[in-house]
Amino acid sequence: MAKAKKTFVCSQCGATSLKWIGKCPACEAWNTYQEEILVRESAAARATPAWGAFQERDYKGQPVPLEQIKAGARQRIVTSDEELNSVLGGGIVPGSLVLIGGQPGIGKSTLMLQVAMALDARVLYVSGEESEEQLKMRAERIGQPVGEVWVLAEVNTARILQHAQKMCPDVLIIDSIQTLISPQLDAAPGTVSQVRECASELQRYAKQTHTPIFLIGHITKEGALAGPKLLEHIVDVVLQFEGDQHYVYRILRTLKNRFGSTDELGIYEMRHSGLRQVTNPSELLLSQSDEALSGSAVAATIEGLRPMLIETQALVSKAIYGTPQRTATGFDLRRLAMLLAVLEKRCGFPMSMHDVFLNMAGGIRVDDPAIDLAIVSAIISSFRDVAIAPDICFAGEVGLSGEIRAVTRIEPRIQEAARLGFKKIFTSKYSLKGLDPTLFQIAIEPVSRIDELYDKLFALS
Ligand code: TYD
Ligand code: MG
Repeated sequence: MAKAKKTFVCSQCGATSLKWIGKCPACEAWNTYQEEILVRESAAARATPAWGAFQERDYKGQPVPLEQIKAGARQRIVTSDEELNSVLGGGIVPGSLVLIGGQPGIGKSTLMLQVAMALDARVLYVSGEESEEQLKMRAERIGQPVGEVWVLAEVNTARILQHAQKMCPDVLIIDSIQTLISPQLDAAPGTVSQVRECASELQRYAKQTHTPIFLIGHITKEGALAGPKLLEHIVDVVLQFEGDQHYVYRILRTLKNRFGSTDELGIYEMRHSGLRQVTNPSELLLSQSDEALSGSAVAATIEGLRPMLIETQALVSKAIYGTPQRTATGFDLRRLAMLLAVLEKRCGFPMSMHDVFLNMAGGIRVDDPAIDLAIVSAIISSFRDVAIAPDICFAGEVGLSGEIRAVTRIEPRIQEAARLGFKKIFTSKYSLKGLDPTLFQIAIEPVSRIDELYDKLFALS
C-alpha cells in the first residue's frame, strides 16, 4: 500500500506547499490554500492507467521534421452555430481541448447540448451532474438532433475514456470537469489535484486521438474559473459564458485561443427552447420606448471586434443618508466612482450628495472605456432631469481632468450608429484625426472636455 501524502494546494493557481500558508507566493491570493490528501495507487496501477492499453497501442511518439508535418490535414468541424465558430476562430479544431466556464445556471450545459445536437457528427456527452433523464428533458426543449448524440452519466475518467475509445466519438463533451474523478488519485472531486489530473488525462486522449473535447468548468464566487491558472495552460481555448441571470442575454467571450484571435465574441439570447444566436445585438440593446426619457444615453461601444450600441441608464437622486449610494449593473463601480469625482471636481455637480444608480441595457457587462461619455451624459441628464434626444449617441473615454480622450476604432462605431439611424454622435476631438466627417451619414460632434459636452448638450435646453 502506498503511503498517504498530504499537501496544501492553492485553489487559485495550483501551487503546492507542505504546510498551510496564508498568502500564496505564486499568485499572491490570500487564504486559498486547502489541504489535500493524495494517495497514489500502487506503482503498477500508476504505470498502466485504465486506458493504458490504448496508449501503448496507438501512441508511438517519434520526432518528426517540421517541414514534413502537414498542418490543416484535418479539417475544422464547422458547427451550425456561427457565434461559436467565430469564437473558436473558425470551427472546432480536431484534438483541441476547449474549456468553457461560467456561473451556475448561466446556460453552459444548454449551450453544449445544443451544439452537440446541431452537429452532424457522433457526439458523446458525458454528464457528471445530471442523469440521462434530465438531459433528455433538456434536449426536448431544444429540439431534434441532427447527428448522433450519446449520453453517458459517469464521473470516473478511466471509464469515460474506455467508453470513448470504444465509441470513437467525433466530439467529446464533459459536463463538468469539477465532477470528474480520476482513479489515479484519492482526492475528492473538484479539488485542485483532481481537476488537474482529470484535465491532463483528457488532454492526452484529445491529442492522441485527435478528438476535440469541450470541458465545462464552474466559476468560483470571485468570478474566476476554479483553479484557473492550472487549467488555462492545459487547455487550448478558454471561453467564458457570462451574463446576468435575470436578463436573457449571454455573451461567450474568448479568453485564450491557440487557434485564433481572442477578440471575437458571441451573443446569445436564452429562450424557452434553448439559446438563440443574436446577430444584430444593437437593435436589442436599445430600449424600445419612443419617448425621450431623462437619464438615458446611448453608447457606441466595441465588444471584441463588433460594434454595438448599448443604452446606459442612470438615476441620480438626493441622498437620504449620510453616505450616498452607488450601484452599477454591468459597469465597474470603481470606474463609476471616478466618473462621479470628475463630474464633481471639474464641473461642480454636487455628486457626493446624491445617490447614483447605473444600469446597462440587457445586463451586459461592458469593459470598453468608450462607454464613459454616454455614462457621464446619462448622469448629467438624470441630474438635470433633461432628456437627451433619442437620435444622439456617444463614444469617448473620460480622463481624470475631465478631458474626453480618443477611442480606438472610431470608424466602425460611427458606421454602426449611422446604420441604426442615429443623427448625431458625440466623440473626442482627438479621435477624428485623419477622418473625413463628410463620409458618414451622421453628424459628428467633436468635444474635448466635459464642460464643453455639457454646454453642447444641455445648456441650450
Ligand atoms: P444550464 O444550461 O443548466 O446552466 P449551467 O449548465 O450553466 O449551470 O441552464 C439553466 C438555465 O437556463 C435555467 O435557469 C433554465 C434556463 N433554460 C431556458 O431558459 N431555456 C431552455 O431551453 C433551457 C434548456 C434552459
Ligand atoms: Mg450544467
